[in-house]
Amino acid sequence: MNMEKQWWKSSVVYQIYPRSFCDSNGDGIGDLEGIRSKLWYLKELGVDVIWLSPVYQSPNDDMGYDISDYRAIMKEFGTMEDYDRMLAEAHSMGIRVMMDLVVNHTSDEHAWFVESRRSRDNGFRDFYIWRDGRDGGAPNNWGSCFGGSAWKYDEASGQYYLHLFSEKQPDLNWENEKVREQVFDMMTWWCDKGIDGFRMDVISLISKVPELPDGPEGESGYGDFGPYCANGPRVHEYLQEMNRRVLSKYDLITVGECSGVTVEEAKKYASASGKELNMVFQFEHMDLDGGETCKWNHKKVPLTELKQVMSKWQRELAGKAWNSLYWSNHDQPRSVSRLGNDSPAYREASAKMLATCLHMMQGTPYIFQGEELGMTNYPFTSLEDFRDIESIHAYQEFTEKGIFTPEEMFDYISYKGRDNARTPMQWNDGHQAGFTEGTPWIAVNPNYREINAREQMGRPDSVFHYYQKLIALRKQYEIIVYGDYELLLPDSRELYVYLRTLGDQKLLVLCSFVEHETCCRLPEALQGKKGKLLTGNGCRLEAEEAKLAAYGCAAVLYE
Ligand code: GLC
Ligand code: CA
Repeated sequence: MNMEKQWWKSSVVYQIYPRSFCDSNGDGIGDLEGIRSKLWYLKELGVDVIWLSPVYQSPNDDMGYDISDYRAIMKEFGTMEDYDRMLAEAHSMGIRVMMDLVVNHTSDEHAWFVESRRSRDNGFRDFYIWRDGRDGGAPNNWGSCFGGSAWKYDEASGQYYLHLFSEKQPDLNWENEKVREQVFDMMTWWCDKGIDGFRMDVISLISKVPELPDGPEGESGYGDFGPYCANGPRVHEYLQEMNRRVLSKYDLITVGECSGVTVEEAKKYASASGKELNMVFQFEHMDLDGGETCKWNHKKVPLTELKQVMSKWQRELAGKAWNSLYWSNHDQPRSVSRLGNDSPAYREASAKMLATCLHMMQGTPYIFQGEELGMTNYPFTSLEDFRDIESIHAYQEFTEKGIFTPEEMFDYISYKGRDNARTPMQWNDGHQAGFTEGTPWIAVNPNYREINAREQMGRPDSVFHYYQKLIALRKQYEIIVYGDYELLLPDSRELYVYLRTLGDQKLLVLCSFVEHETCCRLPEALQGKKGKLLTGNGCRLEAEEAKLAAYGCAAVLYE
């Protein structure tokens, strides 16, 4: 398939969660100086772009995703000078920096909201979504993502404001062109500073159906806002305007976080025509172990369904839009614990297998900090171990309503909770894993003595070196970036096998998702041919078949 070549298509992105990456001054909170001190590590790994989760001023109700000043740095993270130094140093090392852009909502402590709530006729009133109550209650039945109603009553003015997330995250009113103006100005300000892109937080939610109709009621008793907010009526218009006025003037990488996005919608957001964004984060593969009670359960993802979803996105976007590729981020549990096997015997093998499976696909791969070490979920023992508003609220809500027992719910938040991803980066086997000289804001995973960067950098067969190799291969072989994708053995419940094709080249990717040995017959056209093993682990190639150890994998090139 004919595809335009772009630098962001052959890039690998590394996500930093600043609070948990590296603390430079011993206060237990990661910071910008800490990030700067570890740029050499990212260079060594070979990534092209870093995505910084929010570093803006914030009261931290949702760990920085509630911004009170878009043009200031969060005090705990340092100063704007620290930011500029970090940016300049990253650039001097050839690493680009992508900022998180959180503009579906602000913090309730943002100056716009402080003004807006002053009175009904304040000039900023219309920056947010205010409505009168209905029958003595909220304007509609929507529930918020973090539990409870999506509406908060404001005594002073006698109206309710909308917050799809926490009540400290009021939704901006994108219908108001002054809001768009302000957001575009702020983006321009950052672009002029020399940043290289934006990851746009829940951008698919910015346009609401103006009537704000009740949503279908779920187990929690609240209505789902999804049908009236996700991919809403004017979202593409707004993004095209943003593109015209800001994005198109710079050379950026852009990715929209799009909950509720379908392939049809993604073809608009991330169209090859370049009118909106470069790519989106879709959630279909992440939702496979979800269900009626949102994500709260302890289900395993069925491999056949995972293959079907991933392959659908590969097939449908080919030549029309561009995929992002991810197994993990700051909102998801650790991928090796969820999709692989985090027992000591299989942890490294399954981490390498998952990496191979993802990085050999078409799209831009995203690595979440610590994934390149095979970091695992945290062994939670008490509710006090949690910091995340989502887990804490969900525990309360689901146990109070009697939907789950406290034991069940504790098991679910331990398995699926976002804090699994947010424990400190494990740098070495010293004090607090080398993350801080003080006491970290959230506990270090006790397995840091076995799992840490220093140990892995010194061991050639480590997960770290395996990721380094995958990143290097993407630079070396165009077929990895641009080749067509075809799923083989769709019904196998043990193996994920696919074939990439570019001109006369073929790349066969074999991945075992099971704990025992397996065997895979090679496609007929490749039998007896001499393939070149680009990378792999626990895979033996024979003339007609491949033998895979538990969680074995391989990528084989045929020319
Ligand atoms: C996105 C972020 C998540 C945050 C939410 C609200 O999903 O990734 O961390 O809680 O938006 O901003
Ligand atoms: Ca600090």
